[in-house]
Amino acid sequence: MSDELSKIVDSDGNHMLVKYADGYPFPSFEKLTQNLAEFKQWTPKPQDVFLFAYPASGTHWLWEVTCMLMVGKAERLQLEKEHYMVENSGTEILDKLKEPRVINAHVYIEQVPECLLENNKIIMISRNPKDTAVSWYNHNVADLETDYTGKFPAFYELFRVGNVPNGDWFNYNQTWWQWSKGRPNVLWVTYEDAKSNLKEVIRKIANFLEVPVTDELSEAIAHQCDFKKMKAEKHSLLPFEMRGNMSFYRKGQVGDWKNWFTVAQNEDFDQIWNEKMKDCDLPVQFTI
Ligand code: A3P
Repeated sequence: MSDELSKIVDSDGNHMLVKYADGYPFPSFEKLTQNLAEFKQWTPKPQDVFLFAYPASGTHWLWEVTCMLMVGKAERLQLEKEHYMVENSGTEILDKLKEPRVINAHVYIEQVPECLLENNKIIMISRNPKDTAVSWYNHNVADLETDYTGKFPAFYELFRVGNVPNGDWFNYNQTWWQWSKGRPNVLWVTYEDAKSNLKEVIRKIANFLEVPVTDELSEAIAHQCDFKKMKAEKHSLLPFEMRGNMSFYRKGQVGDWKNWFTVAQNEDFDQIWNEKMKDCDLPVQFTI
C-alpha cells in the first residue's frame, strides 16, 4: 500500500485529493494507509464499541450519543470523535485511549479485522443517499485537505458512479447490510429514525449496549445532542481547520436534497436506485 496523494477530477476540472487503500479512495489522512493496514491486524478490547458508516450519515451525532450512554452521563468527552477514528489514529493511539471507547471509521467490511466482526458490538449508521450526497459535497468543499472547489452538479456526476472520497454509497451500505443481517452484535440505525425520534433511538442503542438508561438520562442526552447545541458547542473543537469557517454541523435535516437536486438529477438517481436496490431491503427514507 502506498501513501501517495491522487486526484479525482470532476467534469469542470476541479479536483479532490484522495489516497487509495485496498482499491478505495479515502480522504487524505496523513497516515491513512498505514493506519488501515495496522487496523486490519489489530485485536480490540472486547468491550470496545464500533461505529461504522458511509461519511455524512450522522456519525458525529450518534458517536456523541453512544459515548454518553457508555459513561451513563449526558456529558461530552474531552476528546473529539476524530481521535477515536481509525483513518486518523493508528492502533498505537487507539490502544492508549481511555475506556470506554467508541471507535469509528468509514471503512469497508473487508478492511475490518475478523475478530472484531465476530466479537465486538457494532453500530451501523446509514442515511438516504440523496441527503448523503449533498452533505458529503458540502463537507468536501469545506475540508481544506480535500482541496475541492467544485460545484454540486459536477460532484453529483461523480457521486452517482461512486467516484468520490470513500467510494460508492451503494457498495458500502449493501455489503455491510447483507453481512449484518441476523447478527446479534450489530445494531443498524438510520439518520432519519434518529431525526424522527431521537429518544427512541437512544433507548435502542442503550438496550443494544446493555447499559441502563432512565427517561431523565435519555432526555438529557437528546438535549445535549440537539443539532443547534452541537453546532454551537462543537465546531470550534474540531481538530482541523475548514474553509471559510464552514462547518460540517451544517443543516442537520432530512430532505435538504430537494434544494440541491434538479428534476433531471432526481430522475436519474431514482433510476440508478431502482436498478441497484431491487434486491436489497435496506430501510431508506428520503423524507420523513
Ligand atoms: P448536513 O450536511 O446534511 O447538515 P457525519 O458526522 O457522518 O459526517 O455526518 C454529517 C451530517 O450530520 C451533517 O449533515 C451534519 O449537519 C449532521 N449532523 C451533525 N450533528 C447533528 C445533530 N446533532 N443532529 C442532526 N444532524 C446532525
